[in-house]
Amino acid sequence: MTAVPTKVALHARNVAFEWTGLPLAWIPGEVFSSHLINVLHLLLPEGERWFVKVFSEALPLIEDEQLREDVIGFIGQEGVHAASHQGVLDYFDEHGLDTREYVAQVAALFQRILGDRGLEGKAKEEWLVMRVSVVAAIEHLTAVLGNWVLNSPALDAAGADETMLDLLRWHGAEEVEHRAVAYDVFCHLDGRYSRRILAYGVGGPALIWLWIQGVRYLMEHDTVNGPAKPRVRDWLRASAKGMVPGPRLLATSSLKYFSPLYHPAKEGDTSQAVAYLAKSPAARRADALAGTDVS
Ligand SMILES: [Fe+2]
Ligand SMILES: [Fe+2]
Repeated sequence: MTAVPTKVALHARNVAFEWTGLPLAWIPGEVFSSHLINVLHLLLPEGERWFVKVFSEALPLIEDEQLREDVIGFIGQEGVHAASHQGVLDYFDEHGLDTREYVAQVAALFQRILGDRGLEGKAKEEWLVMRVSVVAAIEHLTAVLGNWVLNSPALDAAGADETMLDLLRWHGAEEVEHRAVAYDVFCHLDGRYSRRILAYGVGGPALIWLWIQGVRYLMEHDTVNGPAKPRVRDWLRASAKGMVPGPRLLATSSLKYFSPLYHPAKEGDTSQAVAYLAKSPAARRADALAGTDVS
């Protein structure tokens, strides 16, 4: 009987995607759903580059050798995620959806609220731990979304673009693979329940606000399908059809993070993530090029 993996050695897969011919609404007939998911391309390049920066700063403070290895794998994976979503953004910018104004606003916001602050000594370390706790909170949500997209047959049934689905599922699978790293680093450096809850309490609503603004921006600036205004009932309808994550998933996942017994290992399914990565066209090409294809 094959052992079910609960933990894997993390490594970055140097994936590449070809976007020629990608429609902006890559789920046929579902402009709102496509753009709700397209917000990932707006937020992740900036966000994940920031994750890499924070965890590169945290690396020298980690005394556990296994955790250090995990963080190095995490940094490698997040760097490739950021670059891959950036590729979609660049394509959008050239094909009727100019995202640069919104992306510049997000970059400025990140720098102003979550940047270095020029601190030294103990204050610098405290600020680093605070930012690690924010990454851990966001990583809970990325694991939830990763798990969702690995279990979203409605997207296949609707005829969603296969390359985009592979990008989302490769990324989602790696989020499930490394879902415990940021949380474990936070526990290693600090682990206070109050700080964990503060980070989620501030970071969660901020992310939702950015997401709403992102959907609005994309629908207003889509020169191929729009412009149009998104409505709450569009979200309820799309989530009922299984096209996007819905409010119930958001609420139940958030409540889980508030449990004092929470650990990311209890969420998602590593064996499912590993199984997807073994068949993902992009991951297979990357592993073959790197000489690590074991199939
Ligand atoms: Fe990621
Ligand atoms: Fe991640």
